[in-house]
Amino acid sequence: MNWILERHASVDSTNRLAYERAREGVSAGLVVVACEQTSGRGRRDNRWHSPPGGLWLTLLLRPPRIEGLSLVAALAVGAALGVEWQLHWPNDLYCGTRKLGGVLVESRLSGQGCEFALVGVGVNANNSEFPPELVATSLALELGHEVELEQQLQAVLNSLSSYLDRYERKGLGAFLDELRGRCPMVGSRVRYLSEGLEHEALAVDLTEDGALRLEDGTVLRSVERIDLVS
Ligand code: BTN
Repeated sequence: MNWILERHASVDSTNRLAYERAREGVSAGLVVVACEQTSGRGRRDNRWHSPPGGLWLTLLLRPPRIEGLSLVAALAVGAALGVEWQLHWPNDLYCGTRKLGGVLVESRLSGQGCEFALVGVGVNANNSEFPPELVATSLALELGHEVELEQQLQAVLNSLSSYLDRYERKGLGAFLDELRGRCPMVGSRVRYLSEGLEHEALAVDLTEDGALRLEDGTVLRSVERIDLVS
């Protein structure tokens, strides 16, 4: 993919701005990047803390399918960061018990399939101070030194190019082994909140479409919250 970068010092949300561009008919390959976001968006309408020093970007894609896209994007981002990381299913990157980053895919479907998909990527890079309610880390904290943001951005975009190219040709199935290897929840007990109720169970595998299969056969596709039982 030939990425075309639209850079901003400050925006409310790169996902929101990319949505506007998609509606205006801009082609796939646009990347909206911001030094800071004033209303960064996370999953389930959570706010995403995005001060200067982090990597905040959104890709505009027009893919034929989006099944498992956020998982593949998380693998691609993690592969470019140069730290040991784990996939906190379904869409977060963790270092141990601390959140390093996350991926938020938003899409618009039409009669013909997917009209566009927005892949929002947030990585704590040189921003190392977090509100008390967040259990988070940054690349700088993990590596012991600040990172060169522009280099990190290029590394993330190169990695996304190659993962997304393979995803387009082969689908999610080509990534399942890598996903299993990155996801400590597979083979572990998890505690999750679903429709307001808390449950605990053994997670046994990822399904072909990237959902989490539990020992009793339940398949989790989306949950309010999920954690490893320590
Ligand atoms: C999550 O909830 O774990 C996903 C967070 C994704 C945050 C990124 S930061 C860049 C992009 N713009 C947003 O408003 N959100 C995503």
